[in-house]
Formats: sequence, C-alpha cells, structure tokens
Amino acid sequence: MAARMDVLLGAQWGDEGKGKVVDVIAPRYEVIARFQGGPNAGHTLLFEGHKHVLHTIPSGVFRQGTVNLVGNGVVVDPVIFLKEVRSLEACGVNVRDCLLISRRAHLILPTHRALDAASEADKGKQKIGSTLKGIGPTYMDKTGRNGLRVGDLFQADLHDRISALKRKHERLLSLYDAPGSTIEADAEWLDAVEQLKRFRVVDCEHYLDEALRAGKRVLAEGAQGTLLDIDFGTYPFVTSSNTICAGACTGLGIAPNRIGSITGIFKAYCTRVGSGPFPTELDDATGEAIRQAGHEFGSTTGRARRCGWLDLPALRYAVMINGITELAMMKADVLNGMATLRVCTHYRVNGSLTDRMPYDVSSGIEPVYRDMPGWVSSNASGRLPAELDQYITMIEEAVGVPISIVSLGPDRAETIMRETASVR
Ligand code: IMP
Repeated sequence: MAARMDVLLGAQWGDEGKGKVVDVIAPRYEVIARFQGGPNAGHTLLFEGHKHVLHTIPSGVFRQGTVNLVGNGVVVDPVIFLKEVRSLEACGVNVRDCLLISRRAHLILPTHRALDAASEADKGKQKIGSTLKGIGPTYMDKTGRNGLRVGDLFQADLHDRISALKRKHERLLSLYDAPGSTIEADAEWLDAVEQLKRFRVVDCEHYLDEALRAGKRVLAEGAQGTLLDIDFGTYPFVTSSNTICAGACTGLGIAPNRIGSITGIFKAYCTRVGSGPFPTELDDATGEAIRQAGHEFGSTTGRARRCGWLDLPALRYAVMINGITELAMMKADVLNGMATLRVCTHYRVNGSLTDRMPYDVSSGIEPVYRDMPGWVSSNASGRLPAELDQYITMIEEAVGVPISIVSLGPDRAETIMRETASVR
C-alpha cells in the first residue's frame, strides 16, 4: 500500500533541535529528505561521542541503510557541501552511498555570498542578521528565473551559464559598491562543482513517488523554523524559503494529500538568532542563565542566541499554519533548577488581549505571562518531576496537540517517547 510522507519541522525561530529528533526517529524511516534552506542551517547531532553539525546533508546519515535526499527546494553551496562530506567521511560515515541530490536544487555561487554581504551592509541598522551564506540572493535568482541548478552541471553550456550569472552579480555588486568574488574562490567553487557531479543526482519528485508507492517510509526534514518562513514569519526578519509544512510539498514534489504526520519541534523556552522581533525576549540575567545552560550559541555562525520564555500564541500559530499533529519539546533540562517559569499565554496589543500572532510584532506588543512552578532536576531514565508534567499538560491544552517526545539532553538516550492520547 502507498505510504505517506511524514514531516518534521521547527515551530519557533529555528535551532529547536531538529537534528537530534531526526536522528532519534530515523530508524522508523527509509528515506530522510531535506526540503528547503541550505547551509544557513546547522543541525547538530551527537554521534559516538562526537558533535557533528550538518548544514546541507539530511540528519539520517548516521543511521545505516537510510537514504538521505537533498530536495529541489534546498539551495546547495558546492564548497560547503563538499567540506561536510569530507568531515563525515573522516569519521567513517560513507556518505556517497546513501546520499541523493535533486537535479532541480539551485546552486549557491561565491557571488551570491558576496551579494548577501553587500545587501546586509547596505541595510545598516535594519540588517536581518543573515548567516551570509548567500541564501537570499540564490532564492532571488530562483524566483527571478536566473538560477543555476544541479541539473545544469551536466549541460554543455555550463560555463557560459556560470559566466552570465556571475556577470549579472558583478553588475549588482557594483551598485552596492562592493567587490565581487575573488578568482581563488571561483577556483575552489569550480573544483567542488566537479566533485558534486559525482554524486547521485535524481528527479526527487519521481524518486519519492516510487518510494511511497513501494510502501517506503519517508520523512521530510525542515530547516530554520515557522517564524522564519518567508510568508508567515516575522517578515522581513526571516529567511528566504517556505519553512512551513507546505514547503515540504513544493520542496520535494509531494502532493499535499500524501502528507502523513507533522511533528513540530519546539524548545521549552524560545531562542532567536539574528535581528527581528521577539516578544518574550529576556534581556537580563535570566536570559543569560538560559543561554549558558542551553549553550545557546549558533551552530553555523557561533553568534549568541537571544533567549526568552515560551511563547504560546506563537506556538499555536505554528500548529495552525503547519497542521502540526504532534510536538517534540526540546531542552526541558535547561530549565532545571529555576524556581518559577513564565509562559506567555497572550499578547496585549493596543490595550486589548489577543492570543493571535499579530501582523506586526515589532512594537506595541506586550506579552502576558502565567507563572508556573519550576522543577529541580529531570532525568530520562526516571519519572518526570510533577512540575514538568504540569508544564507539558499546560502546553498540550493551550495548543491542542500532544507532546509525543520530550528531550532532556543532547544524547539519543536522553529522550522520552510519551504515550499520548490526542488532546484535540
Ligand atoms: P539567512 O537565511 O541566512 O539569510 O538568515 C535570515 C535570518 O534567519 C537571520 O535572522 C538568521 O539568523 C536566521 N536563520 C537562518 N538560518 C537559521 C537557522 O538554521 N537557525 C536559526 N536561525 C536561522
């Protein structure tokens, strides 16, 4: 019987811990497919005591027998991709045998990175806080119908296409009064492109169609998070792709009626990296304590992440936009030892209470909190403390979706799979 594709995605501003959850549930799946984003992502996994950060490659690579697919919605930087492959190979992971790349995926050129930097510099105080990996300019070329795709690497006129795109970028860079990419960067990129051509390139929509028809279990792995979605995130402080569930359809070529379960990952608190509104941000010692306890520093850029209390209107919005059927709560252990926790249940906007995500969250919005008792410690092998149980139940009731996974540490073993009765 034909199977359905499950989706796993971030329900906040990214960095929720998707890499760990994919790794934990990967044994249930035969194919793990990334559907959007690119090397702006950093999915961290602990494998055999070593920390690995995956940027482009799906998080199923550490599970033998799992096929990992880079979908058409992903943007690939050949240089970063190759570095990632080499570092995995150095750890004994045979990436080449288990990795497929869509021929429709777009390529990031060195000049895309230069354009990203020039655009950010030009924005001054309004800068987005981009990872500067060339993501925005590459998606702009995709929608502007100028992009270069993995399939183009096999065309006879490849070098003409690269030159034409690069010339266009250089004209744009001159408007910004910014330098283009250097010749050395080009040489490294061209070499990486030659290496990329040796990987298995597929029509991912047909590959997945056949896999699902054959009853194979497929998981779509999202990057970034719902509130960074180009349409429904805190625009313009967002990334340039659809990070939401609908992005899994367009980013892999899967029809909406073939989607199965949709798991939303969220932290027991909130973080955000880069600029943009963050209603529950804690710009104080508590925020700093969460940052230190949670090691909240970007896995791609090393930047300190902004920290704040859990935001239920934002989580409820993510549940609605994505059709989330179950939730995974990460890093509950980071809140161990806090006497009182605060949870934002509503916003006050222009004097009125609302539990909806307003169009503009940048100013005039005040979070309304409920205080909850904290817990002293948590341990994946014992019973959950009553206060943590209460925290979980409160969230489930507020957003109407069960929490099926609770993570209490970075290791696979520090994970609780909960028997959940649907609360909907
Ligand atoms: P860009 O996608 O690199 O242009 O970054 C746009 C915004 O999204 C910036 O605020 C970044 O910090 C944020 N962002 C991009 N990728 C991630 C991610 O994987 N985790 C968290 N934030 C991200």
